[in-house]
Amino acid sequence: MGMSTRGLGRAEGAVLVTNEEISRDLDTTPEWIKTRTGILSRRFAAEKETTSTMGAAAAARALAHAAVRDVDLTICCTMTPDYQSMPSTAALIQGELGLSGGAMDLNVACSGWVYGLVVANGLLQSRAVKRVLLVGADKTSCLTDPRDRSTRVLFGDGAGAAVLEYVEAPGEFVASDLGNDPSLSHLLFVPAGGSACPIGPEELANRSNYLQMAGREVFRAAVRVVVETCKAVLAKAGLSVSDVDFFIPHQANVRIVSYAAEKLGFPPEKVITNVDRYGNTSAASIPIALTEAWEDGRVKAGDRLLFCGFGAGMSWGSVLMEWSLEK
Ligand code: COA
Repeated sequence: MGMSTRGLGRAEGAVLVTNEEISRDLDTTPEWIKTRTGILSRRFAAEKETTSTMGAAAAARALAHAAVRDVDLTICCTMTPDYQSMPSTAALIQGELGLSGGAMDLNVACSGWVYGLVVANGLLQSRAVKRVLLVGADKTSCLTDPRDRSTRVLFGDGAGAAVLEYVEAPGEFVASDLGNDPSLSHLLFVPAGGSACPIGPEELANRSNYLQMAGREVFRAAVRVVVETCKAVLAKAGLSVSDVDFFIPHQANVRIVSYAAEKLGFPPEKVITNVDRYGNTSAASIPIALTEAWEDGRVKAGDRLLFCGFGAGMSWGSVLMEWSLEK
């Protein structure tokens, strides 16, 4: 009576942008980016790529791997929908792939994937749906200011997807923990473009349609909430760090990941990181990291996996799973 993963897929933005390349247009250096973030390169979407095209590419791979064509619900976790309000990006992915069933977006910024897992699990467990296509996709390069060195170098574009199914067996989902602190919502913030402040000439002039970030404060809060939420989910499951085979956190900065992993007591070989090659792909970062680690044979059926996300809101969440998908 639970949720089981049937297929995985990933798709990254087509354009490789190295630290050397991004440093040509900004007051920064490849060395600064590498030492402060661990990022060596990122992928940006090509001109015609959007959140939905990357999401559909990742989803097509997950569906092909699962060898299924029909799903009851497509969920797209994203903070960068193709269109500001409608239609949903999930609807566009559904159209691109010729799928039927329901479609909806879920915006919890960089925590999107873990929230998506919790929502999908709940809907499957309640038998409201039998099969969910969960997509995490973001084209962050349209949200970061090309002139702002403090955010532009950190983010990248991509998508990851999973086909999740109800099974008459215990399933993979063990426990979850979700949280949000609205008093920290100003730390990661896009002031203009929503109903509170539509974009006009003034917003374009002061560039408030782009992401504003208090980097140092986000860093401190991120390490704290990752440690807290991971401890909380382990406590709910009655397990400890030594029971976990792989820690797969949101990929924002290698220093956030290593500080949090160290405080939790994870040895480096149990921590999956790929931020060096992709930067922060927001809702796509965990499914891309998971899919890579599963493709290269590190993550295997029988492994216990701890996923942890954090981002704007300030939101966070973690999910503990007992992995069952064979390669
Ligand atoms: N190149 C050179 N200098 C840069 C820079 C860049 N790309 N970006 C920022 N700086 C400068 C700042 O202007 C600031 O200068 P100042 O001290 O003269 O004001 C200084 O570097 C920042 O220093 P500090 O805050 O000590 O750097 P840091 O070691 O904390 O690294 C971040 C900065 C942004 C990389 C780091 O704080 C971080 O990763 N924060 C979390 C961001 C994040 O993950 N956001 C998404 C969450 S989902």
